[in-house]
Amino acid sequence: MTGSNETRILMTGIDLEPFVVLTGAGISAESGIPTFRGDGGLWEKYRAVDLATPESFQRDPELVWRFYNWRREMVANCMPNQAHKTLAEIEHLIPDYTLITQNIDGLHYAAGSQNVLELHGSIWRLRCSACEERWEDRRAPVPEPVPACPACGEPARPDVVWFGESLDIKILQKAQQAAARSRLMLIIGTSAIVHPAAAIPLVARNAGARLVEINMEATPLSPYVDETLLGPATEQLAEWWLRNRPHN
Ligand code: OAD
Repeated sequence: MTGSNETRILMTGIDLEPFVVLTGAGISAESGIPTFRGDGGLWEKYRAVDLATPESFQRDPELVWRFYNWRREMVANCMPNQAHKTLAEIEHLIPDYTLITQNIDGLHYAAGSQNVLELHGSIWRLRCSACEERWEDRRAPVPEPVPACPACGEPARPDVVWFGESLDIKILQKAQQAAARSRLMLIIGTSAIVHPAAAIPLVARNAGARLVEINMEATPLSPYVDETLLGPATEQLAEWWLRNRPHN
């Protein structure tokens, strides 16, 4: 076995590659971004059906834009935390590595990750509500009450997946394929109740991967994982990586 092959085996003897990570809102909580569920969660304060559905955008696009502008400003003032940074470090060290996120905040990219499967889209992209046009827009806030599509002039919306909408099939398939061939999956800061994302770890488990979950509390996924590490993502991930990172 060559030195480079040895780096792909965990110190504990389990395969490190292919390595897949699935993140949720909990990984950004320590950056100051509220999660969706639980104490202080966004969906406790706001009704998702009023703000994150295609029907709500049709009914009142200005209200939906006010909500997303508020979120844009909040995220623009937040920095990636140590957990985002550790994942970026892992990407640079592990060749066969896939990062899948449900988050739309862009903090994985801000931390230095280069390949991220953003299952639920990005708050930093807009798309036309009528045609196929998509573009980056990092203004916070977007100054117009409802921005217009540069191609056709119809109202633009955040390029995020709303309740009742389908995920981008190509991104979802890439995520499922990565899970199906993984040997190790870390699941960080997700309540694991929103599908289809919540089923991705089960794809990995059915394929024989080892599953490690990091969360403040047990989730519906906990009975199916090999290990649940309870505590904040910054601390738990740093400790896990220190215990398991390959040594040449
Ligand atoms: P949730 O808000 O449902 O769950 C956040 C999870 O993070 C919970 O299980 C918390 O216990 C955990 N958590 C909180 N703080 C943490 C910390 N510091 N370290 C580790 N874990 C922590 O968020 P998601 O599972 O991401 O979808 O939600 C999934 C989807 O539901 C979101 O992408 C969004 C939402 O509606 C759309 O908008 C389409």
